[in-house]
Amino acid sequence: MAKVLIATVKPFAAEAVEQIKNVLESAGYEYEFLEKYDGEEKLKEALRDADALIVRSDKITPSVINAADNLKIIVRAGAGYDNIDLDAATKKGIVVMNTPGQNSNAVAELVLGMMVYQARNHFNGTSGRELKGKKLGIHAYGNVGKNVARIAKGFGMIVGAFDPFVEKASIEADGVKVYENVEDMYSDCDYVSLHIPATKQTIKSINYDLLSKMKDDATLVNSARKEVINEDDLLKIFEEKKGFKYISDIAPDNKEVIAEKFEGRYFFTPKKMGAQTAEANINAGIAAAKQIINFIEKGETKFKVN
Ligand code: 3PG
Repeated sequence: MAKVLIATVKPFAAEAVEQIKNVLESAGYEYEFLEKYDGEEKLKEALRDADALIVRSDKITPSVINAADNLKIIVRAGAGYDNIDLDAATKKGIVVMNTPGQNSNAVAELVLGMMVYQARNHFNGTSGRELKGKKLGIHAYGNVGKNVARIAKGFGMIVGAFDPFVEKASIEADGVKVYENVEDMYSDCDYVSLHIPATKQTIKSINYDLLSKMKDDATLVNSARKEVINEDDLLKIFEEKKGFKYISDIAPDNKEVIAEKFEGRYFFTPKKMGAQTAEANINAGIAAAKQIINFIEKGETKFKVN
């Protein structure tokens, strides 16, 4: 009987856990949940007899992978798989998958929620601003970007996107303007929302060159990864543009400096909150369990990323 380890430092909602158990039990699989663990050693120990692993943002390092002698598949229940060392997995013949799209509505709702919170001065009782009529630029038009566009249009925002990897016609079909040039989007919009993955090419790519193009009172929204921001450049922009705001799902490393100097112009979630809904946990967790079953039983490798 194959065994699935579900290792989540940040646990799934209880409803999702129950549903994942049902899917695995019905297929005749063994499972173990390792939640809120601290340290790699606990993960290594639990992985010893596992054939398959489901994780969220849990760090899967070469040392973890090398300690897992039975492991055949890792599924990241979510979109970004920058937490998994793909080279180490590939070397060991382990398939890695993600579950694209399953938590994207949750992330998109948080994006708009943070935007309203910032535009209304953190609900402090003073007059804020509305989103209606403001221009929003979506940097990368994947599953989350598309959902952000849909919701933002409901608010009456004027929505554009930059994504050289997505066909222009499919973006336009959503009633979203296509920016051919990323700088044009940054200079034209009141809000820019980031949806790029963290890769060698994108880490620190949101830098002074790009941010300096933004309007003086623009807001940068980050529900992607903190690593894509060049934080030294971000500080320079905060200094130079007196109305610039930065709102992010997870704080930057230099959050103390920002908090001390730029009160009212930032908001950071205490923990990564984008995918923290029962719905997203259910969608991503069940998709991950089913992908494992289909891989072990039928060799299906849809959503393989290595
Ligand atoms: C993702 O990449 O799917 C999101 O960042 C959610 O990550 P989480 O599962 O750690 O909340």
